[in-house]
Amino acid sequence: MSKIVRLSILGAGTVGGGVLTLLRENADLLEAQTGKRFEVRHVLVRDPSKPRAVPVPPKLLTTDPQRAVCDPKVHVVLELMGGLEPARTLIRDALQAGKHVITANKWVMAVSGDELLRLARRQGVRLLYEASVAGSLPILNALQGALAGNRIERVVGIVNSTTNFILREMERALDAGEPAETAYATALRKAQENGYAEADPTSDVEGYDAQYKTAILARLALLQYVPLESVYREGITHISGRDLLWARRLGMGLKLLSISERLPDGRLCARVHPTLIPRECPLYVVRGAFSGIWLQGNGFQEMSLHGFGAGARATASAVLGDLIEIARYPKPPRHDDPSLRPGETAPIETLTTRYFVRLTAPDEDALRTVREPLSLLGAEFHPAEPLESGVEQVALTPPLNEGDFQAHLARLREHTSATVQAIRVL
Ligand code: NAP
Ligand code: HSE
Repeated sequence: MSKIVRLSILGAGTVGGGVLTLLRENADLLEAQTGKRFEVRHVLVRDPSKPRAVPVPPKLLTTDPQRAVCDPKVHVVLELMGGLEPARTLIRDALQAGKHVITANKWVMAVSGDELLRLARRQGVRLLYEASVAGSLPILNALQGALAGNRIERVVGIVNSTTNFILREMERALDAGEPAETAYATALRKAQENGYAEADPTSDVEGYDAQYKTAILARLALLQYVPLESVYREGITHISGRDLLWARRLGMGLKLLSISERLPDGRLCARVHPTLIPRECPLYVVRGAFSGIWLQGNGFQEMSLHGFGAGARATASAVLGDLIEIARYPKPPRHDDPSLRPGETAPIETLTTRYFVRLTAPDEDALRTVREPLSLLGAEFHPAEPLESGVEQVALTPPLNEGDFQAHLARLREHTSATVQAIRVL
């Protein structure tokens, strides 16, 4: 690679803007780290007339994707536009044109990472995607580098900053005696304003963003290709202020967790769902727009990383790390990527899990129709409490088979006027 590394940046939104800022602010540092200078040649956008938080010199702006991707002078294409298409096709085109690619796009990497990584290797170029999982946390690099000599057994993470921010704001509202449900809407709006949320925030609150990240994380940690559809997904839209209040009363926190592990039978199980975690869990303190990853491996034993998981500068930090890596080592590894090996995955129904159960009902009789069958499973109930709209009672269950328990709950729900909330406990 020449002394000047020429870049095409696809997207000048939150992440693209952050990258442009850090490229400018840290130009001397980047040169010191690599012996090269970085020059932006194209910035692809939809609307060149749009006012931007980080102004882009008009001569760099283009709306022509092929110009940005196939310019023979460009060495590295940075895909920071998001969405599945046209992002995936443009990454493919860039690789086929012999460009190195850096992407922050977890959707593309979760759905087509195998195909694109193989294409990059065939083309003799690098495809790096550190920013796609947990923003500034260097977890993908750590798994493929400093921690690669370990057999990783389990990865538990808070990998979506928007939902972690929303849950924290709901807790704050409870502390202030305000309705948590109003705080949910306000916090989502703030997450959008701060640039944490996806273009369509349904991806955050319904757990899709975390599902994409989990497929990538599980693949690199457990060295097995993880089809996206094998990752169980639940979001936070059904979580209420009462759930957060009870979590606290029970000495726990409530987080949207990504959990990937190797089961004793050798299968890989990966999932995303709201989870109650005890205070001693290293992820308990990960609050607001932060992400956290807690790993277990047979050498280092246990480790956690904690930092900004979203936002312009934090994400740009990961993109710049990838850029420095490419400038230093432009050749892809020669060996097959071990994370693309096929293997079996286990559905969530095979797991054994403890549950927090919260029942709400118009009256004690309705409550009893659910409490009694759950007590027979070993659920230990706290005393019932009156609510404005009826009565509420919560319990913790012993470890139960997920498939059996969910089937049981589905049958109970058919025959009761009580509402049954069930949240897994770590
Ligand atoms: P964003 O603020 O919505 O910016 C997207 C940019 O891409 C905009 O400049 C937009 O152009 C451009 N763009 C989108 N579709 C285009 C198209 N079809 N043709 C040309 N330009 C197009 O998004 P973002 O938050 O920066 O996220 C970008 C990517 O990074 C996503 O994959 C996201 O998941 C990932 N990511 C985001 C964060 C974060 O904190 N935001 C963190 C980690 C990873 P206009 O400006 O003209 O509309
Ligand atoms: N929307 C994502 C989040 C951005 O909130 O975590 C970072 O990937």
